[in-house]
Amino acid sequence: MERLDKLLAATGRWSRREAKALVKAGRVRVAGVLPQGPEDKITPGTPVTVDGRLVDTESFTYLMLHKPAGVVSATEDAREKTVLDLIPPDLRRRGLFPVGRLDKDTEGLLLLTNDGALSHQLLSPARHVEKVYYVEVEGQLDQADQAAFRRGIILADGTVCCPAGLTVLEEASHGLVAIKEGKYHQVRRMLAARGKPVTYIKRLSMGPITLDPDLPPGAWRPLTRAELAHLRR
Ligand code: URA
Repeated sequence: MERLDKLLAATGRWSRREAKALVKAGRVRVAGVLPQGPEDKITPGTPVTVDGRLVDTESFTYLMLHKPAGVVSATEDAREKTVLDLIPPDLRRRGLFPVGRLDKDTEGLLLLTNDGALSHQLLSPARHVEKVYYVEVEGQLDQADQAAFRRGIILADGTVCCPAGLTVLEEASHGLVAIKEGKYHQVRRMLAARGKPVTYIKRLSMGPITLDPDLPPGAWRPLTRAELAHLRR
């Protein structure tokens, strides 16, 4: 269920404020009936009209962003530049938000959408969506680290992580980490627990979506139909 004003704003045709005004002016009908207010909860698929015309409330927006270091994964921030500042205003006003967070200094794949339900599913711990990170660390990664990752790392504060994957690359201070959870600073803390602090980290994939190698840091593009279909599956 989504708020009526959010649903209307998600089409990109109206801002949240304009959507509220439309509802208050009595120009919106939900399944043919006058809603009580902009905060009414609407089941996806319910026909919504504005001035008697059907509105396509199902067309959500899905973007892939190559997040650069130095911007925060938030929709707004009083002091810091956010990932939404990298998106043009006409898209931003659709009510986009990042699907989960990357640390300010982490680069790489970040999905942005206004589809709350899909975002919720991707982030749900029960779904075990795998995220893969390229890391560079102080020291050398080895088989003992790989075994510890497979067993489940215990963080400095005692938090136990689920079993995770660690691939050591040719240069042994470089590796690939695959996790299915999203604890705060998780990859950095897992490697710190092994005494190998992260010096660089970049997310390469989330579930079936891989960072497009043609996207430089700071650039974005819409997900393709095929990517979206994989994600939904
Ligand atoms: N793990 C981290 O430590 N940082 C991120 O940004 C993502 C995963």
